[in-house]
Amino acid sequence: LIVSVTGTPAVGKSSFAKKLSEALPNSKMIEINDVVEEHKLFSRIDEIGSKVVKMKELESEIQTLIEKEEKKSNLILVGHLIPDLNLKQDLVVVLRLNLNTLIERLEARDYPKEKVKENLVSESVDYCGVKAKEKCPQTYEIETDAEKEEMIDYIVSIPSGSPKKAPEMKEISKFDELLELVTSDNKYGL
Ligand SMILES: Nc1ncnc2c1ncn2[C@@H]1O[C@H](COP(=O)(O)OP(=O)(O)OP(=O)(O)O)[C@@H](O)[C@H]1O
Ligand SMILES: [Mg+2]
Repeated sequence: LIVSVTGTPAVGKSSFAKKLSEALPNSKMIEINDVVEEHKLFSRIDEIGSKVVKMKELESEIQTLIEKEEKKSNLILVGHLIPDLNLKQDLVVVLRLNLNTLIERLEARDYPKEKVKENLVSESVDYCGVKAKEKCPQTYEIETDAEKEEMIDYIVSIPSGSPKKAPEMKEISKFDELLELVTSDNKYGL
């Protein structure tokens, strides 16, 4: 089984993936950002402090890793870049987050204002979800703790031989939250 966990930076991908890996027997987590770092797959750091990733090279590195590991383990791929890569994957989980909570988490990381804004826009327009759905028909957007638990139970049930009923495949709109943000006195120029 190859599961991808994606979403805007700081939505909680690694935390969710760790819980999933603890519940899913014989699983191996692959953090895409670690692969970028380990193989220095970026050309430079841009104006807002983000790595400009060599996407084609990253894609082939991850494909090679998948080929090497998929016969041995269930794989959990984790990262915000996943929707922009062409990868073999059975199921994608897109984590969503309340926009104000996202602001708090990104500010706690001391990201520059422009970087917080960029990620807020990505989350608002569901960049990861829209892209992920183009690549994988089994793409689930989730946000609440209950949805996370249901998703882990479902994924764990797949290789068990008696799969549970699949969760509802829905789109989570951030329109109301965005409207609230743009009509409030926000410092992100939104
Ligand atoms: N369910 C949760 N409830 C409260 N806080 C959470 C939850 N999940 C994650 N967090 C917190 O949010 C922050 C970001 O979480 P995490 O590192 O899992 O996100 P990420 O999506 O993997 O980020 P990145 O894209 O940078 O790798 C961490 O401080 C984490 O403790
Ligand atoms: Mg992470």
